[in-house]
Amino acid sequence: MKPTTHTIEHEQPRAVLVSLVTQEQKRQEAYEAEHSLAELVSLSETAGVQVLATMSQNKETVDSKWFIGKGKAEELKQLIEERGANTAVFDQELSGAQVRNLEEFLDVKIIDRTQLILDIFAQRAKTKEGIIQVELAQLSYLLPRLSGQGRNLSRLGGGIGTRGPGETKLETDRRHIRNRITELKHQLQEVVKHRTLHRERRKKTGVFQVALVGYTNAGKSTLLRQLTNADVYVENQLFATLDPTSRNFELPSGKQIVLTDTVGFIQSLPHDLVAAFRATLEEANEADLILHVVDGASDMMATQMRVVGQVLEELGAHKTEQITLFNKVDLCSAEQVDMLTTGGECMRISAYNETDLERLSERIEAKLMGECKTFRVPAEKGDVISLLYRVGEVLENEVEGGDMLIQVRVNNKEYDKLGYLLAHYAMDQRENEGENTEHV
Ligand code: GTP
Repeated sequence: MKPTTHTIEHEQPRAVLVSLVTQEQKRQEAYEAEHSLAELVSLSETAGVQVLATMSQNKETVDSKWFIGKGKAEELKQLIEERGANTAVFDQELSGAQVRNLEEFLDVKIIDRTQLILDIFAQRAKTKEGIIQVELAQLSYLLPRLSGQGRNLSRLGGGIGTRGPGETKLETDRRHIRNRITELKHQLQEVVKHRTLHRERRKKTGVFQVALVGYTNAGKSTLLRQLTNADVYVENQLFATLDPTSRNFELPSGKQIVLTDTVGFIQSLPHDLVAAFRATLEEANEADLILHVVDGASDMMATQMRVVGQVLEELGAHKTEQITLFNKVDLCSAEQVDMLTTGGECMRISAYNETDLERLSERIEAKLMGECKTFRVPAEKGDVISLLYRVGEVLENEVEGGDMLIQVRVNNKEYDKLGYLLAHYAMDQRENEGENTEHV
């Protein structure tokens, strides 16, 4: 059985969106119900769902039968009838039994956040790898819920959500799904092997790999396109990029590197999806440098950064060198810009500003190959001069008066260790971060 890779086939889904906030969620710092519901609206629209109304409920715990409370379910039924909705989209993951109960009671299609995201991914998948990964995630989601989804699976030919056969064929379907999952995993292994070989080949040629990661819609594809003039899909939509896109990029020194755009992250990224997309996200894991692109103009910036940080940690990529790029500063108010950290490993940029792109290229180069620093050393200080040869590559060496002016491309790691011995002789005090006042 193949899950759908097309979404809106017949009648456009018209939905009421529902969110439940439990005490436990409230206690979790990262949980911001309002933002989550706002994001669910964007996700629904991206999936082609017409959003008619939203409702939320604060409740001690999840209702095992109805998910929301029975009283709230009645309220929802009334709202659905009033607005003429044919779908209810829930902001959290539902059990198979909850889907069945709600569906019978409300007589509309029930979709949860995971299904919605899987659906968007199914629409976006273009490459073989992407298609395999989405199908694998869909089937992994479907399998444990199969018994609860009888009616859901057999009703409404088109529309959002994972579809499948009716309940009568359940057992054979289970077996088919398991076989298909095994087959897909095998296919994915082959793709991963191929990708790893390709990456290793690139590594052998000494080409640096730089990965653009970030929350969906942060501007990763825009940056890739602006930096490399690549023909990359840029859309003000969630998950416009699904498959990683790699492009060659020339640093100011003329050295070539490879820049890769990766799939956007999102809050509560379905677990099956993270697992399935591991291969794609490995690009970030294997990179020499990660550019974490952040939508600096978003109200949800802090949450989004936290989510990306968590996923990177899960992947083990948090140890890779990173530069945080607070993007879209052209859309920020002066107060917002002031709040964005600069210096160190952070930069404020607009992907559409040429000067910012130049600064970014320089910073990437400095990070990968070391920064250029000039030192003035009295000629008799042989120990200092030999130390300079140890911490990096000496680019220029000239005599001025009784001193030597030595320009070195320092190796950042060595310099972190030994720089204190050289600080006294350093001439180059230039801060890397130029302030970005031209945007505000
Ligand atoms: P996903 O593919 O969903 O992960 O998104 P993405 O991070 O690749 O974002 P994308 O590059 O598609 O950009 C999303 C939207 O933000 C587009 O409409 C871009 O034009 C816009 N955008 C990106 N960077 C900037 C910027 O610096 N300033 C402004 N004003 N808009 C930007």
